[in-house]
Amino acid sequence: MPYIKVAEVDEIGVGQGTLIERDGVTIAVFNAGGGQFYATSPTCPHEDGPLAEGWLEGDAVICPWHGYDFALATGACRVAPGLKVSVYPVRVNGTAVEIDLP
Ligand code: FES
Repeated sequence: MPYIKVAEVDEIGVGQGTLIERDGVTIAVFNAGGGQFYATSPTCPHEDGPLAEGWLEGDAVICPWHGYDFALATGACRVAPGLKVSVYPVRVNGTAVEIDLP
């Protein structure tokens, strides 16, 4: 599927995430600063916490419920190595944040 615009760059604060719904798919999108954005599945695999309401620390998103962290590039959880979130390709095209949706 081609890349689809999901937000403007300035709509997501640095270090924060937001929830995006497009074509029946829900994804959490994060602004890591420096023009770098990431996208993951929206639900924490620990106990279904809302990852888009989490925050970034370095190259990981922290779940707001119990603090598990997930590497933005791979989706791997560092607290519980058996847990993982899906990650999706993101690019910035001008002022648009675009995701290659599954
Ligand atoms: S639900 Fe995310 S850490 Fe528990």
